[in-house]
Amino acid sequence: MATAREIDELEQHFAVAPATFTTSPLYRALCPVVAGDRSTLELLTGRRPGQQASYLFFGAAHYLLLAGVRHPLRDFYPSLVGPSAAEPADAGPVLRDFCRRYRTELGELVRTRLVQTNVVRRAVALRYALWVIGQRCAGPVHLVEVGSSAGIHLYVDRYRYLVGDRVFGPVDATVTLDSRWLGRTPLPDLDDVPPIASRTGVDLNPVDVTDAHARRWLRALVWPENQDAATLLDAALDAVATEPPAVVAGDAVQVCPALGRGLPPGEPRVVFHAATRMHVPAARRAAFDHAIDSIGEGGPLYHVWQEPPSAPHGGHVADPRGELAMHGPDGVVVPLLRVDGHLRWLGPLTPAD
Ligand SMILES: C[S@@+](CC[C@H](N)C(=O)[O-])C[C@H]1O[C@@H](n2cnc3c(N)ncnc32)[C@H](O)[C@@H]1O
Repeated sequence: MATAREIDELEQHFAVAPATFTTSPLYRALCPVVAGDRSTLELLTGRRPGQQASYLFFGAAHYLLLAGVRHPLRDFYPSLVGPSAAEPADAGPVLRDFCRRYRTELGELVRTRLVQTNVVRRAVALRYALWVIGQRCAGPVHLVEVGSSAGIHLYVDRYRYLVGDRVFGPVDATVTLDSRWLGRTPLPDLDDVPPIASRTGVDLNPVDVTDAHARRWLRALVWPENQDAATLLDAALDAVATEPPAVVAGDAVQVCPALGRGLPPGEPRVVFHAATRMHVPAARRAAFDHAIDSIGEGGPLYHVWQEPPSAPHGGHVADPRGELAMHGPDGVVVPLLRVDGHLRWLGPLTPAD
């Protein structure tokens, strides 16, 4: 039974959520509708601990529409009807009707699914961090991604990057990521990164990239206006499917210590996580951090993260506009870049640089 406090928190979450949906006019318009719909908020109290309610709810509705549910709500989704999509401002009553009719299906998705949005462009952030790490340590590194979803970022060395006016990565890559560089000074040479000795993901629910339903869930989590991100996701999933990386199923808190012990002693290891710690229930975040730190017991640890300021890490308060940060074996947190949450742009910490 949902408590009044849970409902109030969810209402508040949806009231402020429009600010996060920077590239989705539809979700911005629908957030206040959900905030005012008590029965949908009740449904969301059944989600798994830590899951970000608005991403999960909109993912669930989008999933049903992508699966072929015939309801007028689809007319508002550019992902389904293209540029002729109806005005977001008119979608409120239609969403409420959708939620009433598909309550059972929405409830099942909300209870069982996780926010697993795999944002391909975040590999640009990891690539930059690898360059920084390469300046500090010689030799190959063991890459671990915590919250790897389908494992797309584990192949950070196989993609082509167009960042600002620079091009990096193998010429025969089947996936090309483009991001804007906001700095005045040129980017460093992102081809100068350490080789990857091994790559391992960790996820509560590793995504089987060969399963059509699992792929649809990842697609549903891409906001309906972001067709370019959806196309990029498809290309990256195809690339990953040719050689799916090892992703260990389980909670990082349990998995990381054993994983760390299995890496060759003394060899450098890079742990990366993006938009993952934010979904770890607040009461478990210290255990999550501790589990990652334990990977450093067997060799020099470089820990890189891109997480919102709502989940401050290592005592470091991130730039509210978005940030990539890391620490090396000395444990000193170093902010590296300002980044857009979806890595459409990246830039130096100081705009003048
Ligand atoms: C929002 S997705 C981000 C995926 C990927 N890092 C990216 O940026 O594209 C968060 C992922 O973290 C996983 N996750 C959340 N909490 C976790 C935990 N405690 N241990 C392992 N994985 C976790 C979820 O299953 C999900 O796949």
